[in-house]
Amino acid sequence: MTVSPALDRSNHPRVWRLPGVYRPQEDSFLLAAALQDAGGTRNAKVLDFCTGSGFLAVTAARSGAASVTALDIAPRAVLTARLNARSRRLPINVLRGDLDVAAQHGPFDVVLSNPPYVPHDGECIDPRWDAGPDGRCVLDPLCDGLPNLLSPGGFALLVHSEFTGVGETLARLRAAGLGASVVARDRIPFGPVLHSRAQYLQQARLIEQGEATEEVVVIRADRSESGR
Ligand SMILES: C[S@@+](CC[C@H](N)C(=O)[O-])C[C@H]1O[C@@H](n2cnc3c(N)ncnc32)[C@H](O)[C@@H]1O
Repeated sequence: MTVSPALDRSNHPRVWRLPGVYRPQEDSFLLAAALQDAGGTRNAKVLDFCTGSGFLAVTAARSGAASVTALDIAPRAVLTARLNARSRRLPINVLRGDLDVAAQHGPFDVVLSNPPYVPHDGECIDPRWDAGPDGRCVLDPLCDGLPNLLSPGGFALLVHSEFTGVGETLARLRAAGLGASVVARDRIPFGPVLHSRAQYLQQARLIEQGEATEEVVVIRADRSESGR
């Protein structure tokens, strides 16, 4: 069953943010709500892949994680996430890097990721959200790599837009040997980034003319206890 949780922002951690670092927003909040619904992270070893400000890493650490590894490729994001972790004295190890670095520090009981997922033409590349013509250039390697990142019995929560292809993500995770299902969804108005991409989304037949909302979806992936 999927839910559209009422996103209660009052409970979210307030994070510092250097210029150019992603501002936690509806997708971040939907994933945080899904984590709470999944029972939190008590005593778990957690990875926050694509951490940005560290918002999800801080959320995981505050809900009792034994340790959190937070990764981002952007130096300013790494600095920001370190600032947010250290100012709260939380057990978060913030590292600069990609999936290879994540693999060196795994496996993890819980993997969280709000990766860049906005489809775009060749022109616009901002690693906070741009992710290739189909929006999947970070998501696909993550789906393929999850079996190696997760401990047996571990789970992942990934968030992305309907425009990135929910069916593709579910199929890719299942092909990698994981259980996969949609656990939360929320329909939100386009922000400035999607407004600026509306023409491309229309050309790619992802939206109709005048459409200005998107559904954001959280997908849960489970590795079985037997590790298969
Ligand atoms: C949509 S933001 C999410 C930030 C944060 N998790 C949140 O929800 O507020 C995506 C983040 O992924 C980072 N990123 C982009 N490509 C990456 C990659 N290949 N490996 C690690 N981080 C990446 C960007 O620098 C950006 O901070």
